[in-house]
Amino acid sequence: MSGPARNEPPVALRLLLPYAAELTADELVAELRPWDLATAQRPHVAVNMVHTTDGRASVDGRTAPISSVADRQLFHALRTRVDAIMVGAGTLRVERYGRMVRDAERREQRRLAGLQPDPLAIVVSGSLDLAADLPLLQDPDSRVVIVTAAEHSIDGVGADVQYLRFPRGVDLAAALAQLRKETRVRSILCEGGPHLNASLVAAGLIDELFLTTFPQIAAGAGALSIMDDALLGAPVALSLLSLCEYAGELFARYALEHEG
Ligand SMILES: NC(=O)c1ccc[n+]([C@@H]2O[C@H](COP(=O)([O-])OP(=O)(O)OC[C@H]3O[C@@H](n4cnc5c(N)ncnc54)[C@H](OP(=O)(O)O)[C@@H]3O)[C@@H](O)[C@H]2O)c1
Repeated sequence: MSGPARNEPPVALRLLLPYAAELTADELVAELRPWDLATAQRPHVAVNMVHTTDGRASVDGRTAPISSVADRQLFHALRTRVDAIMVGAGTLRVERYGRMVRDAERREQRRLAGLQPDPLAIVVSGSLDLAADLPLLQDPDSRVVIVTAAEHSIDGVGADVQYLRFPRGVDLAAALAQLRKETRVRSILCEGGPHLNASLVAAGLIDELFLTTFPQIAAGAGALSIMDDALLGAPVALSLLSLCEYAGELFARYALEHEG
């Protein structure tokens, strides 16, 4: 996905809504306390995605070409405000995730917010067809929970890897309930991809969407959108919580309006 952003000086985002101001990504996220929004049933779940103006979530299969300095800074700042980071197996394989918070200063920011220095990594993989040499699975500082339908385990990992197994098919609602109850996860940042996002939306399990719109018509036949529409059901209304701009790029934060 995105590389470390710490060596890039913080850029000033223009907060357009709810009022006009200038602030950095760290200042923007500083007021977020998603851990206070968990229910007894499941953690609060926010999704963070980037797409182009024409709705492409990747270019040549990667997000790097549509990820700017401001998007990277927001991406890393959001990681400092949650108990856990969730990702689908497809994204983990393509983007080759490693330790979720590599920067010591950011781990300190997490600690000051009352969070564990390293977030729990949650990977959703029905098949568990994951190579042991993925950097995240080799990282000795990472705690990883893999939500899977498979019965085998991955040999030769260096991280602390646990499994949440659903032999009859992954049940995301049950997985989140279990993570809330047994692992005490209160807030999750889901970083995609489109398949996982759509499964979560269809099950009514997403509370917020952080959506960056990169100002480009990327074209690219068959490119993905942020949601795999084959998995979606009824439309879901969004309400806009905030909107920032940097160099023509838009950073929206939406709440999903669940029925009932
Ligand atoms: N624009 C962005 O912000 C952004 C963010 C993330 C990813 N992406 C892009 O998205 C692409 C990957 O797309 P994708 O849809 O394949 O990604 P994905 O959702 O990360 O991965 C799909 C895989 O995750 C597992 N999975 C997801 N939901 C599941 C469920 N409900 N039950 C069981 N398994 C589930 C399955 O793994 P198994 O195959 O192991 O069963 C499935 O094949 C990449 O090109 C990546 O760069 C873009």
